[in-house]
Amino acid sequence: MGFLDNYRKYKKFFREGKRIVNDPFFTQAQIATRKELKKEPSRTEIINFFIKTLSGTKYLEIGVRNPDHNFNKIACENKYSVDPGLEFKENPATFKMTSDVFFGKLRSETLTIPSNIQFDVIFIDGLHTADQVEKDLQNSLQYLSKDGVIILHDCNPPTEFHQRECFNFKNSPAKHNWNGTTWKAYYKFRHEPSLYSACFDTDWGVAVLSRKQFPAFNALEKIENRYFGYDILQNNRTRHLNLLDFNVWKNKL
Ligand SMILES: C[S@@+](CC[C@H](N)C(=O)[O-])C[C@H]1O[C@@H](n2cnc3c(N)ncnc32)[C@H](O)[C@@H]1O
Repeated sequence: MGFLDNYRKYKKFFREGKRIVNDPFFTQAQIATRKELKKEPSRTEIINFFIKTLSGTKYLEIGVRNPDHNFNKIACENKYSVDPGLEFKENPATFKMTSDVFFGKLRSETLTIPSNIQFDVIFIDGLHTADQVEKDLQNSLQYLSKDGVIILHDCNPPTEFHQRECFNFKNSPAKHNWNGTTWKAYYKFRHEPSLYSACFDTDWGVAVLSRKQFPAFNALEKIENRYFGYDILQNNRTRHLNLLDFNVWKNKL
């Protein structure tokens, strides 16, 4: 390749790069990411809070990746985890399989744990697509103790780019940060009259659903976002997600 060809090629890269660096969608998404990463407490603290409050003895985590980031920090007598090992080669999960296979085996009594097990806290953080999260929620409800809670990660995407469907698209303004479409399944289940829920505004949105009504937990009556549009979420975020500050909520208990 001659000098002129190289010059044209690098000039094109420079123009493209400049366009991206100065694009307000990119700068705003990066500001939103930095803001989210500063929020406290972490999902781990919230999970441990509920285990302690409920005097829970059985914890299940769906989607573990590196257990040092959350699972190993959970204080509970009996802990179980499910992960097919897509993102962390070592995959030390208790059950090395997808959540669908896990619940199928649990139902058909082919696991080492009893098929009538009742978990006190189930943390759903596996495949972040609305369809899969809906299945994980439905299955988890069958194995949840009477006063137990289901905790869902990534329910409060700060921009539409964080809630993109495609995990592998890293050239997005949100870069590699990905909440997926989990919030859509959470929003849908907020209309289930037998469940109460809230989403703590920290760590990308830590939502909690339960049959028991904790203070300030509620349900939605009317579906106002039929097509799960991001703009509608953005304009009604606090009410549609029941977004709460965890520390304020905890201090009122
Ligand atoms: C976001 S990471 C989990 C992070 C972890 N819970 C934490 O708090 O640090 C998502 C994990 O879900 C796993 N995963 C992907 N598809 C899954 C499925 N169908 N069932 C269960 N886990 C799945 C991936 O292998 C990955 O390890």
